[in-house]
Amino acid sequence: MRSRQPKRVYIETQGCQMNVYDSGQMLEILRETEAYLPAERPEDADLLVLNTCSVREKAFDKALSRLGRWRLLKAEHPDLRIAVGGCVASQEGPALLARAPFVDVVFGPQTLQRLPALLSEREASGRPQVDVRFPAIEKFDALPAPRRSGPCAFVSIMEGCSKYCSFCIVPYTRGEEANRPFADVLAEVWTLAESGVREITFLGQNVNAYQSDWRGVRRDLSDLIHYTAAIDAIQRIRFTTSHPIELGDRLIGAFREEAKLAPHLHLPLQSGSDRILMAMKRGYTTLEYRSKVRRLRAARPDLALTTDLIVGFPGETDGDFEETLDLVQDLAFDQSFLFLYSPRPGTPAASLPDPVPDPLRHERFDRLKTTLDRQALAFSRKRVGQRVSVLVERSGEKDPSALSGREGSNHWVHFTGSPDLLGTMVEVEVTQGLPNCLKGQRAGIESMSSTSHDRAQRASL
Ligand code: SAM
Ligand code: F3S
Repeated sequence: MRSRQPKRVYIETQGCQMNVYDSGQMLEILRETEAYLPAERPEDADLLVLNTCSVREKAFDKALSRLGRWRLLKAEHPDLRIAVGGCVASQEGPALLARAPFVDVVFGPQTLQRLPALLSEREASGRPQVDVRFPAIEKFDALPAPRRSGPCAFVSIMEGCSKYCSFCIVPYTRGEEANRPFADVLAEVWTLAESGVREITFLGQNVNAYQSDWRGVRRDLSDLIHYTAAIDAIQRIRFTTSHPIELGDRLIGAFREEAKLAPHLHLPLQSGSDRILMAMKRGYTTLEYRSKVRRLRAARPDLALTTDLIVGFPGETDGDFEETLDLVQDLAFDQSFLFLYSPRPGTPAASLPDPVPDPLRHERFDRLKTTLDRQALAFSRKRVGQRVSVLVERSGEKDPSALSGREGSNHWVHFTGSPDLLGTMVEVEVTQGLPNCLKGQRAGIESMSSTSHDRAQRASL
């Protein structure tokens, strides 16, 4: 390898928040064990790490095209090392080396703690190394606590997914659900709070399936929320991603009882047709989904609900699609994600008959997207004139008084103020509701904690 000191690593992250979190962990472990520093550009690095996603075919192709570019860099600098992690690596394993023989290390989402060891083995043996096993929860024990930047931090509480929706590759690439011990999660939250973190987002592919025994009692996500809310320094709690079948009374109750729990829930629906939901093996009907949303909104009237939807699942008829459109109109989602169905090799849905013809699925995609965009804009515009609590996360590079942060329902809010406000919760009056963000002006530094503010706001509803 290049003998330059300090060594630099460039990590590119593709895909979901779980991957963003994992990349942070990779950087920390490389920093701690091998004193790597982050590089700004691939050209400045001694080690390139690609953290891949394979949820849709496009994501998979994106990973291969990035590797194609990095191959050229390696041709110029043969001592450059290239490591590929994430779901493409997990899915392909050694086969990835056949497609990309210039790759030095292939590791999976559950073996990222072994990255430094795999790199050393690569040097010692002169041969590429592959480790894409699922050694349960070993990863959490082996990794340093993530270094935080700013007032917000992710805390991963469970790994993998055991739901096996018929279209989804995740259970095969990330393994079955494995929960992190309750006490370990709380210890990490305490450490983060002491280091200045004000907002915690609990992460998991199926985060509301979380369970762990502590002091002889079974604990779940709602317990984690209550214990975290009891820490004074923590002002806001979020969690993602949830599965509708795991959304029970205790979690709905947490939205009623815990003012620090942000009024936002991402609850993937996927389709508004019961027939398609069954073929997707989602495990709920539209009536059950509607009933959960009704109870959630009764518990937290200001809740912003966002979702994931797939159009063009095999066998989706015009009638199925119209049912999705109707349900989406009824439920009034906030900013949501819409995906074109993408067959993933090895999943049951990939061998289903009756693919939806390309022009038709694109037409359905456009119609549903228009409806979702309209709903998100209506939600933003409704906020104009309201006061929102914003945790200030960023100030502009060119203009440090250009501040940005998210409010409770997860919208970015841009406003002007002193950069000293970074890391604090401030009150902003919304002046403009745009499709993807809000603009506003400062209404005064938050003197109460967000909790007491939110309580006061809810009491006045
Ligand atoms: N855990 C989440 C849940 O409860 O459903 C889903 C995680 S998945 C990585 C994120 C989203 O990608 C899914 O909700 C789904 O909408 C979409 N997705 C997954 N597989 C897909 C496929 N084969 N084609 C299109 N979209 C897909
Ligand atoms: Fe995928 Fe369904 Fe799990 S969408 S991540 S198999 S809940």
